[in-house]
Amino acid sequence: MTDRRKFIKVGTIGSLALITGTSCQETEEIKEEITGNVNAVKPIAISTWNHGVHANEAAWKILAKKGSALDAVEAGVRVTESDPENMSVGLGGLPDREGKVTLDACIMNHNNECGSVAFLQEIENPISVARKVMEETEHVMLVGEGAKQFALSQGFTTKNLLTEAAKKEWQKWLETSQYETIINSENHDTIGMLALDKEGNLAGACTTSGMAYKIHGRVGDSPIIGAGLFVDNEVGAACATGVGEAVIRVAGSAMIVELMRQGKTPQEACEEMVNRIISKHKNIDGLQVGFIALNKRGEYGAHSVYAGFNMAIKSNQNDDLIDASYENEWD
Ligand code: GLY
Repeated sequence: MTDRRKFIKVGTIGSLALITGTSCQETEEIKEEITGNVNAVKPIAISTWNHGVHANEAAWKILAKKGSALDAVEAGVRVTESDPENMSVGLGGLPDREGKVTLDACIMNHNNECGSVAFLQEIENPISVARKVMEETEHVMLVGEGAKQFALSQGFTTKNLLTEAAKKEWQKWLETSQYETIINSENHDTIGMLALDKEGNLAGACTTSGMAYKIHGRVGDSPIIGAGLFVDNEVGAACATGVGEAVIRVAGSAMIVELMRQGKTPQEACEEMVNRIISKHKNIDGLQVGFIALNKRGEYGAHSVYAGFNMAIKSNQNDDLIDASYENEWD
């Protein structure tokens, strides 16, 4: 491991060199400038998986016009939520074992304000409901029927989120009813997005239809602040994808932010938490988890338990989808 790991480790700095053709010495100088926070890379948006590319485009329209990171992450992940072809987020998401599409999402801004919805049904854009929870209520998290009633009171409308394609997949699954948590670049889950805006403020968003064919009522890491997402504007932000139960057990995203506070780079922090997950589970067969992280300087990292995780990056210097480094190959 690897060229890929090395590529990620250099992060923005390496990408800058690739694009501008700067020499190693110049790259080192740029690195020092970034480390010294002279030239923080901002604005920037990073997000999970290949669906992050389109999400980043929407976020970039806001960031490039000096818009806020909060507006950018909401607009970005809404694209994925509304894409019926995407079978792991929002409209078109694969249902639980009873054939119900249930959605989890959360959002967090640079003032440690956050909002979340879980087990929400028939609302296409849960991230925007989560933002309303943050901005319009005294609470952080609403679930199930209460979250839906709140959404309706805020002007959201209902929609059948189970597409014909997703229904067919579920019916096929019912023939064996084997619950498998295979997560790879074809069959993935969450979109998580982190952004740093021109003002130097961070925000994050995370949204999913959860693990396909989960038990009705199951909630994963994605709506749980500190697990699926965490933002601390003094330090950085992180979000997670993969088997949510494993992320919750280690408070994954909050821990990554704390590791960055202690001086780790985003890449080092993601690696440490992936290894923590591995060490805390007796059996990691098929237990895929990936983290992405972004710090106040616009440096980023990504790492996963298994190969196949990728991250989309968008900044003035960078418009990429790159493979994350990882600990294990699939058998
Ligand atoms: N990471 C998404 C979930 O476990 O539901």
